[in-house]
Amino acid sequence: MKVEKFDAIVVGAGLSGLRAALELSKKWKVAVISKVHPVRSHSGAAQGGINASLGNTLEGKDDTAERHAYDTVYGSDYLADQDVVQFMCEEAPKIVIEFESMGTPFSRLDSGLIAQRPFGGAGYPRTCYAADKTGHALLHTLYEQCIRKEVIFFDEFFLIDLIKVDDQITGILSMDMATGELIIFRSGYVILATGGFGRTYKRSTNAIINTGDGVGAAFRAGVPMQDCEFVQFHPTTLYGTNILITEGARGEGGYLFNNKKERFMKNVASKAMELAPRDIVARAIETEIQEGRGFENAYVHLDLTHLGAERIKERLPGIREICIDFAGIDPINEPIPVQPGQHYSMGGIATKFDGRYCETPLAGLYAVGETASISVHGANRLGGNSLLETSVFGRYIGRLLLEKGLAELPSIDKLEKAEEAAFTGIEDLFNQWNTNSGKRPVEIRDEMGIVLDTKVGVFRTEIALQEACDQLAALQKEFENVQIPTSEREFNFGILRNLELRNMIDIAAVTAYAALWRKESRGAHSRIDYPTRNDKEYLVHSLVFKTEDGLMLKTKPVKLGKFEIKERVY
Ligand code: FUM
Repeated sequence: MKVEKFDAIVVGAGLSGLRAALELSKKWKVAVISKVHPVRSHSGAAQGGINASLGNTLEGKDDTAERHAYDTVYGSDYLADQDVVQFMCEEAPKIVIEFESMGTPFSRLDSGLIAQRPFGGAGYPRTCYAADKTGHALLHTLYEQCIRKEVIFFDEFFLIDLIKVDDQITGILSMDMATGELIIFRSGYVILATGGFGRTYKRSTNAIINTGDGVGAAFRAGVPMQDCEFVQFHPTTLYGTNILITEGARGEGGYLFNNKKERFMKNVASKAMELAPRDIVARAIETEIQEGRGFENAYVHLDLTHLGAERIKERLPGIREICIDFAGIDPINEPIPVQPGQHYSMGGIATKFDGRYCETPLAGLYAVGETASISVHGANRLGGNSLLETSVFGRYIGRLLLEKGLAELPSIDKLEKAEEAAFTGIEDLFNQWNTNSGKRPVEIRDEMGIVLDTKVGVFRTEIALQEACDQLAALQKEFENVQIPTSEREFNFGILRNLELRNMIDIAAVTAYAALWRKESRGAHSRIDYPTRNDKEYLVHSLVFKTEDGLMLKTKPVKLGKFEIKERVY
């Protein structure tokens, strides 16, 4: 059994993982384990931008961190923890300037300052951007810095399971995807930065790699999942492909039209219009489609034609390319067909924040970015706050661990016993999978995606959610005997897809279970049978645990603060 030893291990090479690794590399030997090459991480697909109250534009000159925090908490439908939000918004200008000094090619105003565009639910133009390729620019910046600092990368290594001794993390079991070899990475600190689990849904803007590997592994290790019922549906995904069409398109002035040529957002957000937060815009679009005012009963139009060719080419070049390549439409001349699609998971690994620390209940295990629910987004994330969260908390965790100092590991015999158990456990699982019977993983995955799309979507009901829970439980059962095409280990994508599905099927069940429990409508969780927010009973985080008897749900108080609870109106 091959064992690699590090002071800290980061799993995932998106923005949060790289930012944590960069910080840790100042003093420690740190490894980043990633199932893809780092610059293929999903952070690179983020288009629109990163929020910070820089106040660079004339319209935004009065913006403050306080106002940013207020918008975030209001946008979260009060489920965000206010102390964490405050911290993130105060750090935001510093983190953006830090990116600038590392060389990120932000778009500029004529004054030379970083350009900022309006985004949904924000009181001022607050979103800093690099055309419509912001995530790509930030990811490359951090990767370059990590290379410079000699962070050690293990690309195309798959996280299988966490290893722990009692309640202390001691490393991970992973697979070298090319050879199929099982390898232990031993460390007293493991930072999970594996992104979200959007691919549990079929209609998603997420890359196919977003299968919740860190979340699934933590859940199996006894860590609760927090707020998984809150799934963000991005209002504008390209019809037919569900590729993201950035909110920046509306930030630049794009309009949404139904088949009657009406800007229907006036019915639900007469002030903010197309720049209402995502939950509200997604519901409005879904309503137009369901009530027959969409096109082909499937989409509405996002019209950019009035912006003019020059502006589209300068500010939204990637969107134009996507529309031409995938839909044969040039947005300079024609409207874009769009529909809501799964985009982001507000929920994730329950992660604490107490001013000075941020950790999961398992000692030495940390989670950051979309993998974590810390919780800065509550029931609905504002666009542009996700890139911000990744980098603020990536840096924060790095600093925190360096301050804490190196972790002390348990005795070698305890370590080896736990590693051996993880190793034999997974070999047993591989032996349980059949090469010539059982359902194919792709069938289970498709069925899971359809269940979530149709029963745990933008609008939800008790009946549909109960059906979803039952169907997902049946799929979990079928997964026990899932098929693999061959038991060879080299380049066996059958094994890898099964390992991903093992994570997704658990998380899908948690999503439906928590959504069934929450009998109210708040943020992105919209129950037709309970259409209003119910602060008396549900102003709490949900925590779902995996137990021998199935799923168990507890609640945790939301950290309230100075922002008074009100009705959300835009
Ligand atoms: O619409 C977008 O560009 C996405 C941004 C985000 O999810 O923050």
